[in-house]
Amino acid sequence: MSRRNQSDDQPEATGLKKGLTSYGDNGFSLFLRKAFIKGAGYSDSALTRPVVGIANTGSAYNPCHGNMPQLLEAVKRGIMLAGGLPLDFPTISIHESFSYPTSMYLRNLMSMDTEEMIRAQPMDAIVLIGGCDKTVPAQLMGAASAGIPAIELVTGSMLTGSHRSERVGACTDCRRYWGKYRAQEIDDQEIADVNNQLVASVGTCSVMGTASTMACLSEALGMSLPGGASPPAVTADRMRIAELTGAQAVQMAHDKLTIDKILTPDAFENAMRVLLAIGGSTNGIVHLAAIAGRVGLDIDLQALDRMGKDTPVLLDLKPSGQHYMEDFHKAGGMATLLRELKPLLKLDALTVTGRTLGEEIERAGPGFAQTVVKSAADPIYPQGGIAVLQGNLAPGGAIIKQSSADAGLMEHEGRAVVFEDAADLALRIDSDELDVTADDILVLKNIGPKGAPGMPEAGYIPIPRKLAIQGVKDIVRISDGRMSGTAFGTIVLHVTPESAIGGPLAYVQNGDRIRLSVSRREISLLVSEQELALRRERTPVVVPSAERGYKKLFLDTVTQADKGVDFDFLRAPQTKGTVPR
Ligand code: FES
Ligand code: MG
Repeated sequence: MSRRNQSDDQPEATGLKKGLTSYGDNGFSLFLRKAFIKGAGYSDSALTRPVVGIANTGSAYNPCHGNMPQLLEAVKRGIMLAGGLPLDFPTISIHESFSYPTSMYLRNLMSMDTEEMIRAQPMDAIVLIGGCDKTVPAQLMGAASAGIPAIELVTGSMLTGSHRSERVGACTDCRRYWGKYRAQEIDDQEIADVNNQLVASVGTCSVMGTASTMACLSEALGMSLPGGASPPAVTADRMRIAELTGAQAVQMAHDKLTIDKILTPDAFENAMRVLLAIGGSTNGIVHLAAIAGRVGLDIDLQALDRMGKDTPVLLDLKPSGQHYMEDFHKAGGMATLLRELKPLLKLDALTVTGRTLGEEIERAGPGFAQTVVKSAADPIYPQGGIAVLQGNLAPGGAIIKQSSADAGLMEHEGRAVVFEDAADLALRIDSDELDVTADDILVLKNIGPKGAPGMPEAGYIPIPRKLAIQGVKDIVRISDGRMSGTAFGTIVLHVTPESAIGGPLAYVQNGDRIRLSVSRREISLLVSEQELALRRERTPVVVPSAERGYKKLFLDTVTQADKGVDFDFLRAPQTKGTVPR
């Protein structure tokens, strides 16, 4: 190839020739690039193959990704068997429990890291390995913006443990046992014993938390291989999926199967259906909105609510049901669920295999008798797991996970017991002096996207200790924050606009009456407009700001929950309308 051709083919270049470092001499740039990688022992033959990047998110701080070395080996094997050259590289890794102030604060940073390293380094396709809650959305957001062929591989769920012959798993059981301990039903010894059993292996939480939700949504979006969502982290099935994912990435590079061909309105509609049918985490809707925003689409929350009315919860997994992810896998995983949901799905949506979702459902065959995925005729909950609420307390909407709420509290009017922020809550929630009854409604302010910041999962407000000891198991709770997908209760979340920017939630006072009606999709503050205007005048809100660094970027540009809590400048121009169509 002449020197002239070498520079002319830049936009179309593949393998190591892609996106050369700008020394003003492309021939020299490529010469240098090859010289350096040969320093790692690669031959010229290896360097002529399609390059598949692998986003490696292994970290000693992230046990949910603890099988990364084995996954990397299997993915690389798959890539090489298919004739490609695997090159893995590190990105940020985020674990739920080791991220201060909250993992959501870092999700957008991880998405920027992922996007920019895909753009910066030469690769023809990318395998994204994620698992813990924020990592899969961050990778899909970054890859959607980068635009090359991309395929997601999740690390897989952890195994369940056994505590005094009861099966347990993170983290619905973490919350249940902690609740028992707070209510003084179990002692120090027992809470220490169960601590050893809740996370029985590496891998992601074993219930339908956000990690399992995003694993299922990634498959529903067509971004993971069929069967990729459910194999547990430590199984042979997980390693086989990893090998096949690597091989498929090479095929996608050859076919130029770019991510925009997969992340279509139909794909998002399928993901919304699946989110409802699995009793998925409320975080799933925030992440879907963020991923959709990266390809120029808005998620219509009202439409999600309408879809919920004819989408039953079919998956019998904690916290909405009783099983764990490993049971879902043994019951056939997503193939079983998608087969049951088929009449509600957009079957023409393309997947990473180059085939449509409908074709993949056909290929998966007829299924078998099992008890984890219910039939549409006999669901575990008649409507979708998530309902969207509206009213003067949440003009931009709020959500409730009705499938894990107390049926007796879903139509409820009560007196507000207000906490100004998470610190105020921590200070007073267990006080004997707290004026609270089981009929009251707990209100927590300032835990929205800008409020905390990062919209922490503090929306799962604990039952005040004095009520817990009396045996109270649920109480209506309202906030502008999120809650873990593993949590349960009558909990209104994502109140938009948030209190920190002056949403109506900011002006709720102790003793105000609040009405929740899930059947009417209503969340109302029973205080007159004049009184609210007076309060607004008396105590104007000071929007949080920061002097420097990532916190400044975050506070200056983060969007509200309905836009996915993404940074405004990372979203694509919203030219493609709303989903569903
Ligand atoms: Fe990582 Fe639950 S903490 S998936
Ligand atoms: Mg979680």
